[in-house]
Amino acid sequence: MSTVTSNIESVLQEERHFPPPAEFAQRAHIKSMAELETLRAEAAADPESFWARMAEELHWFKRWDTVLKWDPPHAEWFGGGRINISYNCLDRHLATWRRNKAALIWEGEPGETRTFTYQQLHTEVCKFANVLKHANVKRGDRVALYMPLIPELAIAMLACARIGATHSVVFGGFSSSALVDRINDASCKLVVTADGGWRRGNEVKLKTAVDEALKECPSVNACIVVRRTGSPQHMQEGRDFWWHELMETVDANCPAEELDSEHPLYILYTSGTTGKPKGILHTTAGYLLQAHLTTKWVFDIKDEDLYWCTADIGWVTGHSYVVYGPLSNGASVLMYEGAPNFPEPDRFWTMIERHRVNIFYTAPTAIRAFIKWGDQWPSKHDLSSLRLLGTVGEPINPEAWMWYRKVIGKERCPIVDTWWQTETGAIAITPIPGATTTTPGSATLPFPGIDADVMTRDGKPVGANQGGYLVIKRPWPSMLRTIWGDDERYKQQYWSQIEGIYFAGDGARRDNDGYFWIMGRIDDVINVSGHRLGTAEIESALVSHGAVAEAAVVARPDDLKGSSIVAFVTLEGSHNPSDGLNQELRAHVVKEIGALARPDDIRFTDALPKTRSGKIMRRLLREIATSGTVAGDVTTLEDFSVLEKLRAEEE
Ligand code: PRX
Repeated sequence: MSTVTSNIESVLQEERHFPPPAEFAQRAHIKSMAELETLRAEAAADPESFWARMAEELHWFKRWDTVLKWDPPHAEWFGGGRINISYNCLDRHLATWRRNKAALIWEGEPGETRTFTYQQLHTEVCKFANVLKHANVKRGDRVALYMPLIPELAIAMLACARIGATHSVVFGGFSSSALVDRINDASCKLVVTADGGWRRGNEVKLKTAVDEALKECPSVNACIVVRRTGSPQHMQEGRDFWWHELMETVDANCPAEELDSEHPLYILYTSGTTGKPKGILHTTAGYLLQAHLTTKWVFDIKDEDLYWCTADIGWVTGHSYVVYGPLSNGASVLMYEGAPNFPEPDRFWTMIERHRVNIFYTAPTAIRAFIKWGDQWPSKHDLSSLRLLGTVGEPINPEAWMWYRKVIGKERCPIVDTWWQTETGAIAITPIPGATTTTPGSATLPFPGIDADVMTRDGKPVGANQGGYLVIKRPWPSMLRTIWGDDERYKQQYWSQIEGIYFAGDGARRDNDGYFWIMGRIDDVINVSGHRLGTAEIESALVSHGAVAEAAVVARPDDLKGSSIVAFVTLEGSHNPSDGLNQELRAHVVKEIGALARPDDIRFTDALPKTRSGKIMRRLLREIATSGTVAGDVTTLEDFSVLEKLRAEEE
């Protein structure tokens, strides 16, 4: 079935290929490459008819009039249609045998579990939707969700979607100042939070961060708090309300609103090349269609499966593949609140064994951590329930892919390496597990209907095995619609680098088989542990500290995290470098953005290398941070002595 060569480390041209196991393919939704190629050809010949045919799988209050109106770079999908994503994820299953099927099986970090059938989840969502209505949340209003990974987060999202409120989930690891920026950018009316959540045995105090944030958020007039940890809270009279108390005041009757296909479903902030995070806007019908269809085909979801995506709902992966995609398919979803190494490094494997998980989707950074912790942890457990593995978030190195296949998948489970972004809304380049022959490190081929390619900066195609820019040449249903409040930036950032073509910001090449190999970000965005961080955002956090004059942040390759963050800092005249200041600056970044952005290394320097036009040459700093020296072209450097000093400081 498979060919495995021995030299895992040094393969430049990857030679290992793994066709889908026959028994997997036989039972899969898509059973062969021929079937997949037929779908691809259908979608390429007439994308609109293809997506329209697929859209029949959804529940519509009113069918669409037009499939696509494309006024570059603005797309309207399924114009004239009326639909509700909460209805598609819940109500439509209630008329079937799935009514009493487990929708969510949740496990808290301390070990307790809660299960919601589709009927029970529907009841909770309807009740919370009524709570929102009583709090005067109307169609189109924005609601911020700053919560741990608990069922109430999914309930709150589905409740917003039910009444047409637009949710903005802010990852619970962000600090209160990051929360302030995001609440204010979208003028959120209400915040839903919890007293705290559990992470590696410690309480993450969310409500305290919200209290701090709300001093600077004039648009917010109410805050609803889930009691999760039970720690004592200050509740501000007239502003703060307990979730469980409000839920007692409402009934469970709340019909889903009939919304336009393009109704704004959510905003999710992601890092860009400038300091300000971008509010990526997704709308309803097209997003649901692609989240639904990719979940079905890529994860080959079946009714009897238990599916587990380990992502936090605070990231797009959690939106599309913990909540909307799987629930729309009527799947059973496992959710876990806490850390993978609590209380021991085998937490995930104990959960797979106990719950008999069938489909497991995680990030390369987690896989690298598992490798480091050692094979003894997964080896202690019965992982035979697994039938499919997935990865997302960053390029996976072939050694990690092989380890995943061998130690977790026991050489039995196909692996789907899925490439996509907050902006694409759903998976765009991916194997289809019953059809595609996989090869470690490649996301393989575009999903049917996704016209991905690799091009030069000026829009020319590149040949096989030549590097270039990853682009998508035609609109797709789950694409972002704009950047909230900044349509100009939307046009500039994504559609103007090559006129009328979507620019993903990743480098890539295609091999002789047309397989895509993603080479990582080409802009000043770094990918740490699968999370995108803007270097500019970290730099502005550093500069906001009184001692810092200027800062430049670069990525250094890191075995575990993919990249680690190195900050070069020049100080204001009255300050001197010290260990104390180093610690203080690191803590300052944590306060401004969150622990995920904490620099691993701060280097004090007298000056930063700049071009004559004054741009910091991060490329040189990257080389210095990585190899300690500079081999690349330095002809545009303004002051050569800066480089000499940086090199000397390195030694
Ligand atoms: O650089 C690519 C990388 O993650 C970026 C998107 O990050 P974000 O919007 O946070 O979404 C992450 C989850 C979808 C991409 O531009 N990336 C994501 N998946 C892969 C990947 N790089 C290589 N291979 C992947 N499978």
